[in-house]
Amino acid sequence: MSNLLDGKTIVVMGVANKRSIAWGCAKSLLDNGAKVILTYQNDRLKRQLEKLVPEGTPMIECDVAEDSNVENTFNEIHEKYGNIDGVVHAIAYADKKTLEGGVIDVEKDGYNLAQDVSAYSLISVSRFASRIMNPSGSIATLTYMGSTRAIPSYNMMGVAKAALESNVRYLASDLGPNKIRVNAISAGAIKTLAVTGIKNHGDLLKESKARTVDGEPVDTTQVGNVATFLMSDLSTGLTGDIIYADKGVHLLA
Ligand SMILES: NC(=O)c1ccc[n+]([C@@H]2O[C@H](COP(=O)([O-])OP(=O)(O)OC[C@H]3O[C@@H](n4cnc5c(N)ncnc54)[C@H](O)[C@@H]3O)[C@@H](O)[C@H]2O)c1
Repeated sequence: MSNLLDGKTIVVMGVANKRSIAWGCAKSLLDNGAKVILTYQNDRLKRQLEKLVPEGTPMIECDVAEDSNVENTFNEIHEKYGNIDGVVHAIAYADKKTLEGGVIDVEKDGYNLAQDVSAYSLISVSRFASRIMNPSGSIATLTYMGSTRAIPSYNMMGVAKAALESNVRYLASDLGPNKIRVNAISAGAIKTLAVTGIKNHGDLLKESKARTVDGEPVDTTQVGNVATFLMSDLSTGLTGDIIYADKGVHLLA
């Protein structure tokens, strides 16, 4: 499509399958000239990815639940591929029981797990990634407007997204002197594996589609193109921000 990202190496974390937002990001980054390194959660997902990605695409396992995994991953990336220019963090998790009830029913373990994987992991990823990132580097994560509103059924994930967005602002401030920017893309509802874990996700998707400005849901390519902008030098003036890629749903909700 373009050579906007020529010479840039971007790590994309969170491809589970072809419906993943991370896959939409990876495809857009590749189309715009980036070298892309994928990380995946476990061996089962690796087998899915092997069917999906162009031959020779670097892939490294990284379960973000342990800091040591994140540290080892970025050390391995540095050893094999040198410095990087950006990271797309498209990772979230909460267990079924925690997502099923209202926030009033969330127990400590479920709360901690959701916060750990969905919000804290951006901190550990930013810490270890920034050590091997060139100046003018960029980190982008994926959020949802359930962070600032009580969206039916989004529950605990909304609480985790609120923390994630706050992390974005503080990390942007911490990494500013290193000339690394940190932003979030607030995507509209898209039917992915993660969304099917949310109770009544059918209603969430339907409501969201009905509220887009053209009645069509945003897709992973459109979200991926925003990631390309954020990874490019066109966005060097933008940090600590939340960019909506939801076809206007947040305007009407
Ligand atoms: N789908 C939507 O409607 C929507 C909207 C806004 C934001 N988001 C966010 O986009 C991001 C990507 O989600 P998606 O919708 O593409 O779903 P997805 O299921 O395709 O991706 C979620 C990814 O998180 C990974 N993951 C979970 N726990 C992990 C761990 N411990 N270590 C490493 N990876 C782990 C999974 O392996 C998977 O690849 C998430 O942060 C999600 O909250 C999604």
